[in-house]
Amino acid sequence: MRIICLVAAATILFAAGGIAFADGSGDPTAVKSEDGKYLDKQGNPTYKIQPDGTVDWYTYSGYRRYHSDCHVCHGPDGMGSSYAPALKDSLKTMSYGDFLATVASGRKNVTTATENVMPAFGNNPNVACHLDDIYVYLRARANNALGRVRPAKHEDKSNAYADAEDSCMGTK
Ligand code: HEC
Repeated sequence: MRIICLVAAATILFAAGGIAFADGSGDPTAVKSEDGKYLDKQGNPTYKIQPDGTVDWYTYSGYRRYHSDCHVCHGPDGMGSSYAPALKDSLKTMSYGDFLATVASGRKNVTTATENVMPAFGNNPNVACHLDDIYVYLRARANNALGRVRPAKHEDKSNAYADAEDSCMGTK
């Protein structure tokens, strides 16, 4: 029995050994960047954190957006609360597409006696215009690339980001 368990454990370790990191969207390693936005090899948005701790603009912006719009229910730093799940753990299995859909449409937990409601943010420009930012920040948290800290140094906001943000928020 013990031998069988060891073999099973070794197989799992070996299988996991092929990928350095993985979350619900796969390997988060940034393979390219477009105007300050980093993408993984699947084309999903991801974070880029330099050895000196400088984070990409999305991670920094996502940190701020998360703490203004999600933190009240999901707890500081994506750690969760008694009311809503720890998003730093959710993203370990949740894909980018599922994340976007859940935040845009919301969700209601109907399996418990107490009703826990995830509001729909699809019509809230503060969130809807910054979904990638929040995703990238939480992705960094899910992969332990960023601790429970306010990022001290960050890349500048790119002109392309600023233009897209202005047009999304309807300020231009
Ligand atoms: C009013 C409280 C509240 C706010 C504010 C809120 N959420 Fe939620 N969220 C919830 C609850 C409760 C759930 C669990 C719903 C369920 O169990 O179906 C949830 C679930 C989620 C899930 C699914 C997690 C999983 O493990 O399946 C995601 C993703 C999510 N929220 C993202 C966000 C983001 C991003 C924000 C900020 C833009 C946010 N939420 C703001 C209450 C909230």
